[in-house]
Amino acid sequence: MQALIPILLMLFVTSPTSNARIAAEVSNVDVNVVDFGAVGDGESDDTQALLKAWSNVCGASQGTPTLNIPKGKTFMLQPVLFNGPCKSPSINVKLEGKIVAPKSMNAWKWSDSVRDMWIQFANIDGLVINGGGQIDGQGAVWWNGCKENCVRPTALHIHNCKNLQFSRLTHLNSPRNHISISACDGANISNLRTTAPDESPNTDGIDISESTNVRIENSFMATGDDCIAVNSGCSFINITGITCGPGHGISIGSLGANGAHNTVEEIHVRNCSFKGTQNGVRIKTWQGGSGYARKITFEDIKFDAASNPVIIDQYYNPNPQMDVSNGVKVSDVTYRNVHGTSANEKAISINCDNTVPCTNIVIDHANITSSVPGKKTFAVCSNAHGTSTTSVPTVGL
Ligand SMILES: *[C@@H]1O[C@H](CO)[C@@H](O)[C@H](O)[C@H]1NC(C)=O
Ligand SMILES: *[C@@H]1O[C@H](CO)[C@@H](O)[C@H](O)[C@H]1NC(C)=O
Ligand SMILES: *[C@@H]1O[C@H](CO)[C@@H](O)[C@H](O)[C@H]1NC(C)=O
Ligand SMILES: *[C@@H]1O[C@H](CO)[C@@H](O)[C@H](O)[C@H]1NC(C)=O
Repeated sequence: MQALIPILLMLFVTSPTSNARIAAEVSNVDVNVVDFGAVGDGESDDTQALLKAWSNVCGASQGTPTLNIPKGKTFMLQPVLFNGPCKSPSINVKLEGKIVAPKSMNAWKWSDSVRDMWIQFANIDGLVINGGGQIDGQGAVWWNGCKENCVRPTALHIHNCKNLQFSRLTHLNSPRNHISISACDGANISNLRTTAPDESPNTDGIDISESTNVRIENSFMATGDDCIAVNSGCSFINITGITCGPGHGISIGSLGANGAHNTVEEIHVRNCSFKGTQNGVRIKTWQGGSGYARKITFEDIKFDAASNPVIIDQYYNPNPQMDVSNGVKVSDVTYRNVHGTSANEKAISINCDNTVPCTNIVIDHANITSSVPGKKTFAVCSNAHGTSTTSVPTVGL
């Protein structure tokens, strides 16, 4: 025994890399939710077990503490908030198994701190969510059973998280939007697969608001509403490699609802495709709001029988208004290399506010033909200024 000690010491002294690795392994807290009583049979309520496991992960101060939600099991969760701040600068939620919502609407248990949301992560910096698992919102009962005077919940809400990394998960059948991101600074979101039936109401893929420096990449979205919606307070959002459809496309807004002051800027949407979607790339605002949507680029976009491939709609409000003195200003919007087919003959619609016209709308290489043989596409434009270079259909900017 005594003879071993110098040898061990020598090993540590002579091998600094393995020394560091051993130290890291020792300090990383790795929590399996099953060890905290989670059953994972898809029926038992595993909420308290996951919260207990979470408090251990969030309270651990070294390395990257990990919450493991293992493969081969299905964990039923009630509405739950995984709250920070956490002690470690980086936290990993490794979802390899499945999470499901309660089966019926009546089975959902709400509390004062958790309303209108199913699973929430809030106030956690350096949060990494990944693992290849699945989140199933069991939304069908809500789509049919919750219409008037009833609020359907968001499946996954991530709020006030700096430097988020969120990847490799499947999201199914949310009661409402699948993922919402708010008040986050710095986020890389990639390799998500989000699906819900074409006709399921308000089942957006990802909604983002009040966030900056966000990348959403290489994901597949087929839902009943927007694949991605970029809402007020967003800037520096890059969306690339999204396959969207069915769904309502990628939207900026709606902005300016009920007189709101909303702002969005520096949004880059690149290398995305839209198959059979109700819209392609859309900017939508309400009359009578204020603020702006500016510095927005849609580049290398492909449409396959999309119904309204390119659309700016500044009359999105359900009730048209007369004599409005304000509007959300839309400017510096570029469509570069947008091509493919439109299911409607009206392939490009730039319908700007008559109070606050659009400026510097740039169409640079568009070629959108009809998906119906023998039909021609056309563009409409009102209250819009800018330039158009090499465009099919021609746009009168
Ligand atoms: C996102 O990815 C980019 C490029 O790999 C990297 O520079 C950035 O730090 C990442 N951000 C986060 C929050 O991980
Ligand atoms: C978004 O893309 C632009 C243009 O390619 C780039 O300059 C910017 O750094 C990117 N921002 C993020 C948050 O990835
Ligand atoms: C474009 O997006 C697709 C996913 O739809 C991806 O496979 C491809 O690598 C991307 N290409 C570029 C040039 O970014
Ligand atoms: C537009 O696309 C159609 C169908 O792919 C193609 O036949 C046509 O040559 C293209 N026109 C231009 C100007 O690129």
